[in-house]
Amino acid sequence: MDCTTEPHNIIVDVHVTGETPESARAELRAGLLATPRTLPTKYLYDDRGSELFEAICELPEYYQTRTERQLLIDCADQIVDLTKVEELVELGSGAATKTRVLLDAMARANQLRFYVPFDVSEGIVRRVAQELVNEYKGLQVHGVVGDFLAHLEHIPEGGRRLVVILGGTIGNLAPQAARTFISSIHSELTSGDFFLLGVQLETNIKRIEAAYNDSAGVTGEFNKNILHVMQEMVGATLNPDSFEHVARYNTTDHRIEMRLRSNEHQTIRIPGLDLSFDLEKGEEILTEISTKYDHPRAETLLEDSGFDMIKWYTDPDELIGLALARKP
Ligand code: SAH
Ligand code: TRP
Repeated sequence: MDCTTEPHNIIVDVHVTGETPESARAELRAGLLATPRTLPTKYLYDDRGSELFEAICELPEYYQTRTERQLLIDCADQIVDLTKVEELVELGSGAATKTRVLLDAMARANQLRFYVPFDVSEGIVRRVAQELVNEYKGLQVHGVVGDFLAHLEHIPEGGRRLVVILGGTIGNLAPQAARTFISSIHSELTSGDFFLLGVQLETNIKRIEAAYNDSAGVTGEFNKNILHVMQEMVGATLNPDSFEHVARYNTTDHRIEMRLRSNEHQTIRIPGLDLSFDLEKGEEILTEISTKYDHPRAETLLEDSGFDMIKWYTDPDELIGLALARKP
């Protein structure tokens, strides 16, 4: 582990490295050889991917970010009052824009001591740490650069904690992976700690589909960025322009499925994986799912992992849900 201490109340621990370990190569190979072919979504978020995701959050079609932000504005003081926490841990923190709403409420209640941004993207963790210590006087930021599916034990010990996952990130995990993830969060926490889970609701499927097919094409660029990552990381020889972004709703599994469709028959060579395979014209690689929840499905997910759900917040249009839970 590389542990760097910088001025101004910042610590950043790094648990992922620049090189691609054999375990990651095996995961990539297995995904690309599976039917349908898939790529692990965490590779969407290199520095360019993180920037593109920030641009998605500003799109007119992508209603999720502004709806979740408004919902947080409406319930943050109550959450802070109910939980009395002084430490906020955010998994998949990204640019932490909505986090400020919670940090503001903690500051108003004189309960703001400690923020832990946890993300796989090192650049964004460092940037956010610096921004937040400048914005909040006396705040300690302990960033963790890691994979939240593998490195949760590195969440630093503090006082009573509130762990949050926002941005629909839980929806990007397949059902079993989501359950395992919530269970490991539960195991990491101490009795009396809190967990706030943001979910995107299945209320309006037309609107959901539009959110992943924006007219400016930013979502397509973001999806295709995983091809650039494959070029950089494992030397894939491919032309990103020979792929098309596809996002469709799957009503059976309650999720948007994002794919890259090959516009032509082509051979993909990936020297870094000792792999080469053919893609038919029209063949698709599954790059991301975004599962939509409802109140009962969110509650089941939390309670199956041992949490008590104590509050359910939603906006007037029921587009976003925030489930507040406690480890008994
Ligand atoms: N919370 C922010 C960002 C959501 S985007 C918001 O609400 O807008 C999802 C974030 O999770 C990205 O910043 C991405 O880098 C991070 N992420 C995705 N997979 C991850 C993983 N396996 N481990 C840690 N972070 C991950
Ligand atoms: N968590 C976000 C969501 O499910 C991630 C996301 C938004 C995304 N737009 C995307 C992932 C486009 C891949 C492609 O809404």
